[in-house]
Amino acid sequence: MSEPKRYLVTAALPYANGPVHIGHLAGCYLPADIYVRYLKARGKDVVFICGSDEHGVPITIKAKKEGITPQQVVDKYNAMMRDSFKEFGIDFSYYGRTSSPTHHNTAQEFFRTLYDKGVFKEEVTKQYYDEEAKQFLADRYITGTCPRCGNPSAYGDQCEKCGTSLSPTDLINPKSALSGAIPVLKETKNWFLPMGELQQTEAFQEYIKRFDSWKSNIKGQCNSWLTEGLQSRAMTRDLDWGVPVPIEGADGKVLYVWFDAPIGYISATKEYFETNPKFEIRNSKWEDYWQDEDSALLHFIGKDNIVFHAIIFPMMLMTHGKYILPTNVPANEFLNLEGDKISTSRNWAVWLHEYLQEFSGKQDVLRYALCAAAPETKDNDFTWKDFQSRNNSELVAILGNFVNRTVVLTHKFYEGKVPAFDYKEEGFDEAMVAMHIFQSKEKIEKSMEQFRFREALFEVMEVARLGNKFLADNEPWKLIKTNEKKTAAIMNLALQICANLSVLMKPFLPHSSQNLEKMMGKEFGWNDIGSMLLMQESDTIGEAVLMYEKIEDETIDAQLAKLAASKVANSQQPLANNPLTEVKPDITYDDFDKLDLRVGKVLEAEKVPKADKLLKLIVDLGFEKRTILSGIAEYYQPEELVGKLVTVVANLAPRKIRGIESQGMLLMAGNDFGKLYSVGPDKDIEPGSVVK
Ligand code: 2FM
Ligand code: ZN
Repeated sequence: MSEPKRYLVTAALPYANGPVHIGHLAGCYLPADIYVRYLKARGKDVVFICGSDEHGVPITIKAKKEGITPQQVVDKYNAMMRDSFKEFGIDFSYYGRTSSPTHHNTAQEFFRTLYDKGVFKEEVTKQYYDEEAKQFLADRYITGTCPRCGNPSAYGDQCEKCGTSLSPTDLINPKSALSGAIPVLKETKNWFLPMGELQQTEAFQEYIKRFDSWKSNIKGQCNSWLTEGLQSRAMTRDLDWGVPVPIEGADGKVLYVWFDAPIGYISATKEYFETNPKFEIRNSKWEDYWQDEDSALLHFIGKDNIVFHAIIFPMMLMTHGKYILPTNVPANEFLNLEGDKISTSRNWAVWLHEYLQEFSGKQDVLRYALCAAAPETKDNDFTWKDFQSRNNSELVAILGNFVNRTVVLTHKFYEGKVPAFDYKEEGFDEAMVAMHIFQSKEKIEKSMEQFRFREALFEVMEVARLGNKFLADNEPWKLIKTNEKKTAAIMNLALQICANLSVLMKPFLPHSSQNLEKMMGKEFGWNDIGSMLLMQESDTIGEAVLMYEKIEDETIDAQLAKLAASKVANSQQPLANNPLTEVKPDITYDDFDKLDLRVGKVLEAEKVPKADKLLKLIVDLGFEKRTILSGIAEYYQPEELVGKLVTVVANLAPRKIRGIESQGMLLMAGNDFGKLYSVGPDKDIEPGSVVK
């Protein structure tokens, strides 16, 4: 696409079922905000949309847990999340809610349009039903083992560990999240999006050519789904919380949350235009951003949302017919915390509302640390030590030190007036500095266009480094005693670098760049970058504001102690509360007897290409050799397993995983804290022996 006329940027609508933590921020809100601020600095026309995702099972599960209604849950967390985003300078044009009437109407109209066009396939299928709770178990109401990676806590709609999108019937050992009961299958009617058929259409084939220029993590995931072939997916659910399905014969059914949520981007844009007269004046309307081919549509998301934004939503937009398709879907990987997966239930997180209380006024420090460690191409780790060192050794020692010295000395030497200068006379090559900054600007632009914000931020810091070194090398605080003219030239040049920095920092550090603008007494635009004439001789600068201050070891130790307390609390949880140790409902001996457990000997083991978690094993069962796929690659090196005696579920129906038929399953002992060991006889016994 040539230069777009306008941009519609979205950040994933978070479920309004809990506070925001650093993983959310680093995953999509911060990168989206950086990008939007960058576009705005360049004078682009951009609308930035987000809002609460207020439907879906996560909300009702939270309501049940807290003993309040789903409406109370979403009201509480919508307000809390909105505040956190605002505090961290995530500058949405509009933050909507999927419970709004505009959204309900828009989502229903959208469904109706697809229904009238005959897009959906109406099908009666067997779905899991909890006989105790008297409810169908859609999506997160059901958990089980992921058929792809072996994660024992996968949800009915998705495995959060490997990102695979699932249906409840794909789960191994399904269990109701409501009662813990083993669900039964019961018939029900739903409307399916025939994704397999849509995949073959010319329009979709044309659309997926875009993947080639997308980030490799997204391209890789999408291409692997496409190669496997897409499956139809129900766009309706037997639930009572959500947008009612707007057709006859669908009583008691609501739209699938992943059908209505992305439409939330559209409804929020509509609401923005309805409530913002600025656009009426400019004669622009919401449709320009969603339906004009000259607009760019960008969805910032975390990796668990890729399939919905890169494949399902585009299929919905495409079949509707009036909409443009995403120009790009910049997805990040996951951020871990101190080497462990961020987890709400284990309170292993840094919550933004708590950070704000404990690090008041330091929002930019977290923005900086999270951008510098952003999980752009692979999962990455946030550590408090890294946070401290980014603050103390980079923000304080380089950027803050440079700006502070420049402003304080300008006040001290010249009563805050920008000093007169003659670089040439003083032997300075200001053109070199200008060139250096201009080159940095170009590098930053290139990185930004490729959604490489870490790289761009590093380059901004290079300019601060340049300024800091320039002052340190020339020591104006000493030189003033012997050479006033040269000092004036040094200080003038330092002020020009500060002025340049105030623009370069803008997308990343909005609060501090505002402070710097105040100190410079002026605001500059993106096109000013590289100029050495931004601060004029007649200008008076503002008072020095301390942008960053040192963070002491005690502060960091207190945060680490807080996390350590979470770890202790988790390990001391009564066994009955540990989801993995909860005892399943009773079964009879006959139920048990249906299992044919055998001792097997691993003959061969190898990694499955392009599947990080899977090992392919050849196991000798005495009477025959079996190929078994097991999701244990993270726990065992293939060679460790060869020769080992294991226990095999020998009569588990074969299933195809990654195109390979797995003819059984290995028994493993695992817990929630990352341990998984194979279970086998403790003395040598011949393969094929019965385990009973
Ligand atoms: O994963 C989530 O938190 C979802 N609520 C994201 C929805 S994004 C969009 F489609 F609305
Ligand atoms: Zn998985």
